[in-house]
Amino acid sequence: MGCGNIFFTLVITLSAALITYNVIISANAPLKSEFPGPSKTNPSIATTDGDGGFISVDPIIKMPLDRSKKRLFHTAVTSSDSVYNTWQARVMYYWFKRFRDQPGSEMGGFTRILHSGRPDRFMDEIPTFVAQPLPDGIDQEALKKIAPTWMNVSLAMKKDPEADKSFGWVLEMYAYAVASALHGVGNILYKDFMIQPPWDTEIGNKFIIHYTYGCDYDLKGKLTYGKIGEWRFDKRSFDAVWPPRNLPMPPPGVPESVVTLVKMVNEATANIPNWGS
Ligand SMILES: *[C@@H]1O[C@H](CO)[C@@H](O)[C@H](O)[C@H]1NC(C)=O
Repeated sequence: MGCGNIFFTLVITLSAALITYNVIISANAPLKSEFPGPSKTNPSIATTDGDGGFISVDPIIKMPLDRSKKRLFHTAVTSSDSVYNTWQARVMYYWFKRFRDQPGSEMGGFTRILHSGRPDRFMDEIPTFVAQPLPDGIDQEALKKIAPTWMNVSLAMKKDPEADKSFGWVLEMYAYAVASALHGVGNILYKDFMIQPPWDTEIGNKFIIHYTYGCDYDLKGKLTYGKIGEWRFDKRSFDAVWPPRNLPMPPPGVPESVVTLVKMVNEATANIPNWGS
């Protein structure tokens, strides 16, 4: 499928260079027609101008106040041609369309950025831009600028027992956010934008379910995180094989967020033609 002027509006990069993150749009979340501006909300603004003292300007850009002109969100997702990336992109695009077609939706376009360099079998199913992989040795200016700080910040966080414990294996991802802020790379933040099962248990009025953590429970509905549960859903079980249709639902007592996630995957796989092939 072609892709001329696709990057014309606000782009949400749902998944950066490494697609370890996967996101689906929350089933129960009402798609609000407006994000509240800063006057109405109190976004968690993180500033790090304490000890280091080298931030002089708040790098976080506030939500524009003038929202009189409706601007649609463009969703972009980077993907390889692996089974693992592809099934997730198909589920995601299914839910994108479901929400785009609802009244008051602010969903604009959707682009899968396929960085294998070759069209695949899903070009007609998902709007796709085929990107050539970067040749080895190419310098990417922004990354080059940020990378040394990123490493230093990662090491500093790793050495801080409290930070290390709080961030665990996603520490470098947070370090990246800190490093990019230190270099003045701005982001528009919106509080309560997404949830992460199994840690966030309720959907509330969040917009996105971000599923990266495995969900393991015993049959009484108790979380056994880090230990394979009697019931489990972990996207990494399906890195080389397609998840089957109709995944087993979790036992009673498992939180709404996890139940919704599995339901949404099941609804998508039930409705996408030729699933699993
Ligand atoms: C990273 O840390 C090293 C060692 O302390 C230092 O020499 C270097 O200047 C730091 N780089 C950046 C970009 O902060």
